[in-house]
Amino acid sequence: MHNQVYLNGRFLPQNEAHVSVMDRGFLFADGVYEVIPVYGGRLFRLQEHLQRLHNSLAAIEINSPLNDSQWEDILHKLMAQYPGQDQSVYVQITRGADSKRDHSINPHLTPTVFCSTSPLSDSRTAAVRKGIRAITLDDNRWTRCDIKAIALLANVLLKQEASRRNALEAILLRDGKAQEGSASNLFIVTDGLLITPPTGNCLLSGVTRDLILQLADEQDIRYQESDVSLPQLQQADEIWLTSSTREIMPVTFLDDKAVGNAAPGALWHIMMQHYQHYKALFIAGEVD
Ligand SMILES: Cc1ncc(COP(=O)(O)O)c(C=O)c1O
Repeated sequence: MHNQVYLNGRFLPQNEAHVSVMDRGFLFADGVYEVIPVYGGRLFRLQEHLQRLHNSLAAIEINSPLNDSQWEDILHKLMAQYPGQDQSVYVQITRGADSKRDHSINPHLTPTVFCSTSPLSDSRTAAVRKGIRAITLDDNRWTRCDIKAIALLANVLLKQEASRRNALEAILLRDGKAQEGSASNLFIVTDGLLITPPTGNCLLSGVTRDLILQLADEQDIRYQESDVSLPQLQQADEIWLTSSTREIMPVTFLDDKAVGNAAPGALWHIMMQHYQHYKALFIAGEVD
């Protein structure tokens, strides 16, 4: 059986879902997306993801084609395909298809809306919890990394360079400052202080990043949002990379050198416990 997806108002098998070759998503990567994890049949941090989706749409001047309850309704219908399973839900909106290829925006287009879901693999999450290898690379992306744009060619090539060098992620440096991973946010721990680069145009405001800061606040874990220089990164006691589907990944090797004692660090263990506890409360319906 093929995975059912949602495309422009219809639920249909993935292999029957087609978009026009004139779609501006196909021609120009003119669109935005979200990835939302599902635990215990509930969409984790849904409001935060929808808020970021609205921000991304507003930044590229597309009116949201659906309201929040319509998004929720579509996603719940898709999620019903995998009852009880952790999932990763994908939402993509492009500016739509025009009659000709033209950089100029035709304001009358109907956005293309695509949503799908797939089960989250336990083994993948378990594997990254043992620690991952990361490398540093120059950040050659544009300066609107705050928009969750589908134009991911730079991220794809950076990740490919990481893979070639036997690493799972690339930590990206702009003007000597570490910004984030190619598909994750960055935290370091130095002398017990948790540090993450401040949000702005050079990184994506991660939903997982925000939750970690919220948990740090609640648990009286000392943290600050400030620039992370390359020497700070290289000398950190711990490095974490965070994302919705991979949660908090401890980096145990950076550019082939051990981070701390080459094992997930003490604060990582503490934060992971709080994170998993928060998820358990969420699954039990005790937090939104
Ligand atoms: C470039 C980039 N930064 C950060 C993140 C983490 O964001 P979130 O925690 O909302 O998944 C992602 C997620 O894919 C990303 O692609």
